[in-house]
Amino acid sequence: MADKAQELYRKLFDRIKEAQMLSDVISLLGWDEQTFLPRGGSDYRAETMAYLSGMLHKKITDPDVGAMLSELEKTDLVKDTDSVEAVNIRELRRDYDRQTKLPQRLVEEISRTTSLAVNNWVQARKDNDFPKFKPWLDKVIKLMKEKAECYGYKKEAYDALLDEYEVGSNVEFVSGVFQGFKDRLVKLVAKIADSSRKPNMAIIEQYFDVERQKIFGQQAAIAIGYDFGTGRLDIAAHPFTTGLGPKDTRITTRYNPHHLGQALFGTLHEAGHGIYDQGLPKEYYGSPMGESVSLGIHESQSRMWENQVGRGKPFWKHFYPRAQQVFPEALGAVKFDDFYFAVNDVRPSLIRVEADEVTYNLHILLRFEMEHALIKGDLAVDDVPGAWNEKFKAYFNLTPPTDSEGCMQDIHWGHGLLGYFPTYTLGNLYSSQLYAKAKQEMPDMERQFEIGNFAPLKKWLNEKIHSQGRRHHSNKLCEKVTGKPLDPNFLMDYLEKKYGELYGF
Ligand code: CO
Repeated sequence: MADKAQELYRKLFDRIKEAQMLSDVISLLGWDEQTFLPRGGSDYRAETMAYLSGMLHKKITDPDVGAMLSELEKTDLVKDTDSVEAVNIRELRRDYDRQTKLPQRLVEEISRTTSLAVNNWVQARKDNDFPKFKPWLDKVIKLMKEKAECYGYKKEAYDALLDEYEVGSNVEFVSGVFQGFKDRLVKLVAKIADSSRKPNMAIIEQYFDVERQKIFGQQAAIAIGYDFGTGRLDIAAHPFTTGLGPKDTRITTRYNPHHLGQALFGTLHEAGHGIYDQGLPKEYYGSPMGESVSLGIHESQSRMWENQVGRGKPFWKHFYPRAQQVFPEALGAVKFDDFYFAVNDVRPSLIRVEADEVTYNLHILLRFEMEHALIKGDLAVDDVPGAWNEKFKAYFNLTPPTDSEGCMQDIHWGHGLLGYFPTYTLGNLYSSQLYAKAKQEMPDMERQFEIGNFAPLKKWLNEKIHSQGRRHHSNKLCEKVTGKPLDPNFLMDYLEKKYGELYGF
């Protein structure tokens, strides 16, 4: 009996490995599309990728897979629920059910509608013409509600959409977490805005030679533990990380010759994602135990290296003298404290992707509240611009002069990515809580950063997070590692302490 179960498990493993290889080919084409593909090649590339995606979908929704899973679920392999086999069977069941719950018609309609919606969004944003985008947003919201019905949910439709990106999360959990820091965060942002201390931004907005930036960024990525033996760093207009195999992780960044921070912090961010992928157990590659848990946990890794480490004093104690050597004209005469303040500038601003680590979470809170209301039916698409501006005034004390700089700034809604935004802030929250735990267990950690040794933190994350694959869902993983479920006070304590010192309160 046991042998038979093992044999079936191996058969299933081989099947999903084939699907993984196909998926890797698609990812490679996608990576190439965003890095090196000549513009003329994009139509044919889109066609090729759509064809292969169809093949992949067929492979992973094959009824044979469902039948094998049903058999395996009756065997002893699932007895120890934390075992590799049990985790793989549980998670493959989840993936399979989600993939098969949507009727082909709906999948195609979502794909067609969102691609047209994105095209219309691009134009509408350019022309600051919300009425042009409105009918498309309407269609997308309707389709997302239909999708949620197909997936099913316990309490409300938005739960099903959240669960797609952050397994096991729901409105109750996410709004509880957000409520836990909303007031404190709004107050902190107001205090910073009121402070008379302001960094001199001219320091990092000077000319920084791009070739030198590349060398400096690569050295920083290596220092924090991104492995160039199994990874690359290239240029892309919209930076991203992708994994193409157990020993092939690719990150991208973009360079601005008049800003030191954009490429550097972007590189640290993507290297954080890359270090997670490189730390996943290679022997389980292609199966859930060899995959990352969720977008929130993935983002916790990137944000930790970008913000907690990369914008921290200990990091710059080591790297600032080096930065001064690489960019002597720009930084030679700039004092450490002035530079450190400039890379930690906080100010309420209109655009999410340009926001600092403090105000960023308010941008997400606003989007979460709005999309939740849209799916619930409490907010009509007609009222989106008005509701957006009202919330913006309340949280940022700013009014967007145009909808392009307001409710139309992000691609997500046109793309059908509802339920996605909260993962960014969950990432920040998990990041703070994990970092606090690492520091508690390794009191010497930040002193090591000062001498350029980031290995202890990387090793700690490898062991506690990366090697676990999808064994535990995010919040349980957080509890296992830190002894507590997600608690927003860790983020707030960190932000209040750091920015209180910088802004003088
Ligand atoms: Co990210």
